[in-house]
Parts: sequence; C-alpha cells; structure tokens
Amino acid sequence: MNIQDLKQIASALMAGDKGLLAMDESLPTCNKRFAEVGIPQTVEYRRAYRELIVTTPNLGECISGAILFDETIYQATTDGVLFVDILKQAGIIPGIKVDAGTVNLAGFPGEKITEGLDGLRDRLNKYYSLGARFAKWRAVITIGEGIPTNGCIEANTHALARYAALCQEAGLVPIVEPEVLMDGDHTIEQCYEVTAKTIKKLFEQLDTQRVNLQGLILKPNMVIAGKDCPKQNWVDEVATATVNCLLESVPAEVAGVAFLSGGQSAEDASAHLQAMNIKFAGKLPWPLTFSFARAIQQPALVIWKGNPENVKAAQQMLYFRASMNNAARRGEYSVDIESAARK
Ligand code: 13P
Repeated sequence: MNIQDLKQIASALMAGDKGLLAMDESLPTCNKRFAEVGIPQTVEYRRAYRELIVTTPNLGECISGAILFDETIYQATTDGVLFVDILKQAGIIPGIKVDAGTVNLAGFPGEKITEGLDGLRDRLNKYYSLGARFAKWRAVITIGEGIPTNGCIEANTHALARYAALCQEAGLVPIVEPEVLMDGDHTIEQCYEVTAKTIKKLFEQLDTQRVNLQGLILKPNMVIAGKDCPKQNWVDEVATATVNCLLESVPAEVAGVAFLSGGQSAEDASAHLQAMNIKFAGKLPWPLTFSFARAIQQPALVIWKGNPENVKAAQQMLYFRASMNNAARRGEYSVDIESAARK
C-alpha cells in the first residue's frame, strides 16, 4: 500500500463541488430499472445506456469518479473506445463495485450478508490493471421487528473491513457502504440509532483490520424516516440528524463522506445535501458529497426509454441532475433554480 497515492485518489474524488456517479447496478438491479420503464433487458441495451452516461458532454465538470459494474468495465462505445478510457479523458476516475451482492444471512431471518471476499485479492489486482482506482462494497442493514441484530451488523462490518484492507493493499481507495435501508415504517430516530450503531461498529472493525482511514471514503445513508413512516421530516431535520449521527460515529481522519440516495427523489437528495453543507459549513472534519445512482440517473433513464432519438435529452437531464448536486455542495441549490432550469 502506498498511502500517499491512496490519499491523492481520495482527495481527487472529494475535490471542489464534485461528487461520484454510481452507475454500478448489478444485472438484476439494472434489469429491474429497465423493466420499470419498458426498456428491453439485454446486454446491448445495458451497454447503450452506459454509453449514454459516459459520453454525456461535460460530465467531468460535475463528476469526479464513476463506479462501474464488472460487465461495464470491459465495455466500449459503438466506436470501440473503452468506457474506462472515455471516463479518463473526461477527467473522471473509474471505480468498480466488487461485492457479489447480498444473500440471506444464515440463522438471521430477514437479514442479509454481502458476499464476495473469496478471490477478491486477484479481482482487485485485475481491476487495477484495467484502470480502476477505487472500489465499492455495499452492505445492507434492514430495520424491522427485532432487527437489525448485532450478529448481522457484526458480520457485515467485518466483511466491509476485510474488503477495505484488500483494496488498500491493491492500491484502490475503498468506498465502504453500510446502507441502512429506507424500506419500512421506522422513524427518523430509529434510523439515527441504527445508523450510528452500524457506523461505530464499522470503524471498530476497520481499526482491527488496520485500514488507513485517510485513504478511505464512507458512503452512508442519510438519516431519514422509512418510506412507509407516516411522519416524514423536514429537510432541515434530516440534514441535522444526518450530520449529528456522523459526528458521533465517524473519525475525523476519514478522507470523505459520499452519500447514497437510497430511494429519495432526486430533488429531496439534492435539498438534503444542500442543507447539510449550508448549516454545517466550516464545522466538519470531512467533506460531504454525493455518490448517487437513482438520484442522478433515474430522471434521465425515464427520458431515454431505450430510444436512440432520446439520447441527447437524457444526457442533458443527467448533466442537469449532476450539476444540481454540485450546487448543493456549494450551498447554492434551491427549489427555485430547479424550476427555473425546467422552464
Ligand atoms: P442510490 O443512490 O440509488 O441509493 O445508489 C447508490 C448506490 O451506489 C447503492 O449501492
């Protein structure tokens, strides 16, 4: 591990008002999103969609790093240029999702464990040679009756820490993503408690596995009520709960925090990021940015619909959503600039 290199990559990913674009949907997830808007679920449609994303004009103004999926890292444009090379030319650092998805955790009904540690060292070395400079591993934590259990939190954070150590050995900055899901009717207070407990356990495990926090990015959920909770909170409440939760659980050495959107609307995700960056400006030990998938891509996917004639309009929407999140990082986002831009 060369910690200077890792620190440099991490700080490039967190630079200025930029953020990350997660375009690493696994095959089942990508196919599900396509099916919802009537797009055929084939390898060629997935390739065409990812080509649309990476060739979006000026995307590098907004996005510092793009997280790819295994299928995508080998793919190229119709002109035969690898997506990895397109990203690099745009000044975007290529990253890669390396977990193998979730399965039921034996003995813990309703809970999941993320797989993918076996053979990971070799896969990381291969991804590095293909141009990736950072990686992502997602663990999911579900809030429900009697869950999450300590057993689930322990197993998932242990796997995240083992993954992070292997990444640093291979010269890749690990993004550690312990996602507390928005599914369910839990309150914001319950989300706060579970998120804090999970992140604290994660940093204990990272310490045990000797991971250098200066070369690591945390990708957490925002602290927010479940989708089915009758009480939804104001933007300021979500922003305050999220930052307070992070302040009590994330060590100051961490290179940065890049949020997932988790099923929030694109506008809500931008508004929450904006509120955090305004209210806590100059008071946080780490920069806060975005690492959204749905909150950047979904409006563009709906415009594209798999039709080549819609590529330009979809790219404009993708750029627009990314730029709204840049504005949120700068503390300049507002509902007004959203609606002005839509006129
Ligand atoms: P969402 O922003 O759609 O939650 O996705 C982020 C991500 O990378 C999930 O692993």
